This record gives sequence, structure tokens and C-alpha cells, in this order.
Amino acid sequence: MKKDLGLVQAVYPMPVLMVAAYDENGKVNAMNVAWGQICDDDKIILFIGEGKKTWLNIKASKAFTVSLADRDHMKEADFLGIATGNKMEDKFERTGLHAKKSDKVNAPIIDEFPVVMECELLEFLNSDYVSGVVGKIVNVKAEEAVLDENGKVDPSRLNALIFDQFRNGYYVSGEKVGQAWNAGVPLMRK
Ligand SMILES: Cc1cc2nc3c(=O)[nH]c(=O)nc-3n(C[C@H](O)[C@H](O)[C@H](O)COP(=O)(O)O)c2cc1C
Repeated sequence: MKKDLGLVQAVYPMPVLMVAAYDENGKVNAMNVAWGQICDDDKIILFIGEGKKTWLNIKASKAFTVSLADRDHMKEADFLGIATGNKMEDKFERTGLHAKKSDKVNAPIIDEFPVVMECELLEFLNSDYVSGVVGKIVNVKAEEAVLDENGKVDPSRLNALIFDQFRNGYYVSGEKVGQAWNAGVPLMRK
């Protein structure tokens, strides 16, 4: 029997994305974004509140990177979602994380996170209901340690954080239970 829960954000899992961009002076800032998703083969959409430091930086620099946060850097990832560069001058420095400029886009890559998407700003989506940032994914880099023998990212080596918006938990999962576009094939044959 199902119970009514009222309004809850009932999508699980949610990602834990580290979105980084430079300000006008080349200073690094980054934030934690759960409301983000691949929205085409080469595009990503992030729902970032207008006026947040990262939003302002993307507007100024026209580029950003999106990293997958992992278990080893949960403290830093969470901090990037609590503090704002609008009020904390040394927000990024406080994390102890390291960043260098992408060779593909005008945005910083945070060394410590294992997978990063290098993105160019395509557009801002602003309506009464959403504040979205759409980016073109120009390239993806991944640490060799998280790649399988075919050079693909192996989730079981990634330890990527998963956000649970029901109870505000961080989880980690790398258990493979099936193959997409395959697990449902027996029902095609009925
Ligand atoms: C787990 C988690 C997920 C978050 N997801 C989002 C999000 O999807 N969009 C958003 O605008 N803010 C999100 N936030 C809040 C921002 O990360 C927060 O406002 C941050 O201070 C913005 O930093 P900035 O102003 O330096 O860019 C999230 C925070 C946490 C802890």
C-alpha cells in the first residue's frame, strides 16, 4: 500500500556534480550541483540559481567544467555546496583542492575528481520556472585508475557520490546488476 508523501523531490539517484568556472580575473570558484543532467549526446543542462557565483562566472567566462565527485572528496564536495564565492573570497582555496586550466575550454579542471567534462556555454534558460545553464561537452577526461581494459569509465572503480534528496544523504554504489538495452530484451520476444 502506497502512502501519500506530499511534495518531495522523488528522483533517485541524483548526481553530485562539481561545477567550476573562472571569474573575470581568472579566479577559480566551484559549486555542488545535483540538479544536472545530460540532455543530448553532446550537451549538459545544469539548474543553477541565477546570481550564484558560479552562475555569474559562467556568464563572464562562457565556459565551465563538470566533475563527478567521489567518496574520497565528500567533505570538499559538500563544502562547495554550503559556502558561496559571493561571500567567501577564498572558498576554493579552503578546500585544499587543486585546479589547472583546461586545454580545451576557458575553465578550471579540479585535479582531485576522477572524471571531468569540459564544456562551453551554449545558453542560459531563464523563465518564471527554471534557471538553466546549457553547455556543449567538448571533451571528457578521466583518470586512468577509473578506466576498464577497453578505456571506458568503470563505475565500480569510480566511487562516485550519489545524492539522495529524500533524506539528504550521500551514497556510493558501483554494483552492476544488468546491461541497458539488454535486460528487457526477453520481453521483446513474447
Ligand atoms: C548536495 C547539494 C546539491 C546542490 N544542488 C544544487 C543545484 O542543483 N543547483 C543550485 O543552484 N544549487 C545547488 N546546491 C547549492 C549550491 O551548491 C550553493 O548555493 C553554493 O553555495 C553555490 O556556490 P557559489 O555561489 O560559490 O557558486 C546544492 C548544494 C548541495 C549541498
